[in-house]
Amino acid sequence: MPGLTESFVGSIDQGTTSTRFLIFNRDGEPVASHQVEFEQIYPNPGWHEHDPLELVSSVETCIEEAVKKFEEIGHTRESIKAIGITNQRETTVLWDSETGEPLHNAIVWTDTRSQTIVRELRSRKGAEDLQQICGLPLSTYPSSTKLLWMVKNVPKVKEAYDKGRLAFGTVDSWLVYKLNGGPAANVFVSDPTNASRTMFMNLATLEYDDRLLDFFGVKGKIHLPRIVPSSDRKSYGNISSGILEGVPIMGCLGDQSSALVGQKGFYPGLAKNTYGTGCFLLYNVGEKPVISKHGLLATVAFQFDGKPVYALEGSIAVGGSGVRFLQNNLSLFKESKDINELAATVEDNGGCIFVTAFSGLFAPYWIDDAKGTIFGITQYTQKGHIARATLEATCYQTKAILDAMEKDSGHALSELAVDGGMSNSDLAMQIQADLVSIPVYRPKMRETTALGAAIAAGLALGLWRNFTELRDINRAGGAVFEPSVPPEKSAEMFALWEKAVQMSKGWVKK
Ligand code: G3P
Repeated sequence: MPGLTESFVGSIDQGTTSTRFLIFNRDGEPVASHQVEFEQIYPNPGWHEHDPLELVSSVETCIEEAVKKFEEIGHTRESIKAIGITNQRETTVLWDSETGEPLHNAIVWTDTRSQTIVRELRSRKGAEDLQQICGLPLSTYPSSTKLLWMVKNVPKVKEAYDKGRLAFGTVDSWLVYKLNGGPAANVFVSDPTNASRTMFMNLATLEYDDRLLDFFGVKGKIHLPRIVPSSDRKSYGNISSGILEGVPIMGCLGDQSSALVGQKGFYPGLAKNTYGTGCFLLYNVGEKPVISKHGLLATVAFQFDGKPVYALEGSIAVGGSGVRFLQNNLSLFKESKDINELAATVEDNGGCIFVTAFSGLFAPYWIDDAKGTIFGITQYTQKGHIARATLEATCYQTKAILDAMEKDSGHALSELAVDGGMSNSDLAMQIQADLVSIPVYRPKMRETTALGAAIAAGLALGLWRNFTELRDINRAGGAVFEPSVPPEKSAEMFALWEKAVQMSKGWVKK
């Protein structure tokens, strides 16, 4: 595009365990980046929180540091023309609509404290209709039940709710609000990929639906962000201070939708699987949502220029967080990448199956009282077997999701495109190919989540005018993992996994 060829787009990637800022050129290559980790707060078993102010400061630090590196290699900050945001989804932030002060720590998507509320809601009239409208089943995962828990249990939140001052947002809304300067600018928006994770948005209209708000008892009681397209020149405002003061925010996508965009899954039939803290498989189903009958979610893939595009989603709660558990809680190795070496010390799982149900089990099972359980331990079991069983757990769940997706969509995937931290492991990706019996394709540049948000912003900016102009980005140099075991052998292993899943349920304190 004349005039914009020397332009860059910044991408804020606010994930579950770390925040990053990456600066992309028009070829979709990251030229500078910075990453920081922030505190994971676990106040009780099954609870998981983030400090909302720390999320914002982590973003500000990443922007400052990445731009410094960018300038050190000879670029100028003025060449960064727009910013995209991608973020952990469902995580719920509540703040005072007048002062902009957070009223509690953010409750993270993995948190299961709303279990009792979920059970009560499931027995209410109308519960069975929710998924048809919003695409999600009732569970502890979406934002709605986290919000209800805070209204019920946090006096400051209840007070704001009673006074009509309770602002509700997912992480995208919170960041946009704060980066614009908070209550002074009052930019309070969300995009459909994030709003579709709240259970408040109608998937077909992309608007809040009174039937949903009524069901959760919040209609007219809370401030909700305005839903605007994922790629938008004006609605997301500008950065109000710091090294990129004045730069407009033009793109916003929940991280899993962003990875689909970053993998250029623009057309129906394309899919990606991202192995991050959790693991999420999104399958583009086109311009009409498909409501799953087999335990998957219907969600918005992106809304760029008018019409939304939808996806079927298989969500796995524990991916990389299983590896971190072995690293931090069991001290089995020092750095997460060391799991590969440990897992490679053994030839197979030695009969061990690890159902990593730390947040219950998500798709396609939705068992909220399952707990992490290792089956098959004997005197023969070594650390390597546990490491291998941990990698396999995510791969088995991916297999279960692909089976469900085939049933829902009527099509079998012929190749699985992957990205995210665990996809860097050749061993894990070979296990994955063996278990799903189709080739696994891993692109050369794996920053696809951040790239997706940069694409959303770049399309609004005019850096790219259409999908065709994005065709050659990140196309060369990927790796393909071919299945290396007969399908009968994978079927046998998978049957054992399914048995273990059934045996991991019912661990609830009465
Ligand atoms: O739905 C939760 C998801 O958005 C979190 O993604 O990358 O932090 O595992 P990730």
